[in-house]
Amino acid sequence: MKARILQILRDEAETVSGEALSELLGISRVSVWKHMRKLQEAGYHIEAGSTGYRLKSAPDIPYPWEFPEREGLVHHFDAVDSTMDIARELARDDCPPFTVVIAERQRKGRGRLRRSWHSEDGGLYFTVVLRPDLPPALCTRVIFTASVELCRTLEHRCGMAPKVKWPNDILVEDRKICGMLSEMEAEADRVSYLNIGIGLNVNNDPSPPEADATSLRLLLGRAVDRKALLAEFLNRFETCLGDAPSSEVMEAWKRRSGTLNRPVRVATRDTVYEGLAVDIDDDGALRLRMPDGTEQRVIHGDCFHN
Ligand code: BTN
Repeated sequence: MKARILQILRDEAETVSGEALSELLGISRVSVWKHMRKLQEAGYHIEAGSTGYRLKSAPDIPYPWEFPEREGLVHHFDAVDSTMDIARELARDDCPPFTVVIAERQRKGRGRLRRSWHSEDGGLYFTVVLRPDLPPALCTRVIFTASVELCRTLEHRCGMAPKVKWPNDILVEDRKICGMLSEMEAEADRVSYLNIGIGLNVNNDPSPPEADATSLRLLLGRAVDRKALLAEFLNRFETCLGDAPSSEVMEAWKRRSGTLNRPVRVATRDTVYEGLAVDIDDDGALRLRMPDGTEQRVIHGDCFHN
């Protein structure tokens, strides 16, 4: 109902009477009034006068009803420990694929390699639950698809030229703007769920704790519409997954790579490799040319551009 009310108010620049709304929506005028109250409480500036209602401004909050075509699949929270935890519970409870969990803030946001992810107001923190029909070993392609589609979204909406840093960071002007974390449960050859958590620095300033990090607002000098950004990314990502991620995604990733052809240092749990990053395999592993001329495949680790 909120989505329909907002649609009517947005389409109509003038004041819309309670009577017209009640007829268009098939609900009583009292119900219309109650919905307006709820929207006002959620931060919508709706002028209510004797002639009706008028939308003056909307908050930049990705509420489920701001995504009418996927409203039932979007879960929005003010604050959670981590969207990964909520998404895991939903996935284990058989939620549909492409369920999205968004939080304005995370108390215990998680990064890769057991790091924490600072999640203060203004950023986009969300986890998408997926159920890909792929062997577990090929699921990294889905995560690479998310990186590529997020880059395309930033290119299109913000006119930026983001680069991907292996495995799934997104950098702009050599500073980290986005990180991704995945969690999967699988039995033999069947993936039960693959959850992809994305932290995108939009209107927040991550630089005090993370000197190498930046945000869209810091780079562009203006606030960016988080709702529109998220809507575009989800649409692009879903469309791409519909085509089943092919090895083409790896080519698209390589075209935006800031890691390939660079000397890098990759720290895994027990080893540090230093070499020239020469390629990415179809399963997402990084290929390094080592100083002795041999090639080393690295499946996961922390990558530093030297
Ligand atoms: C990284 O670069 O280390 C990955 C960061 C992933 C952060 C996102 S924010 C949404 C989701 N919830 C979390 O707790 N982490 C991921």
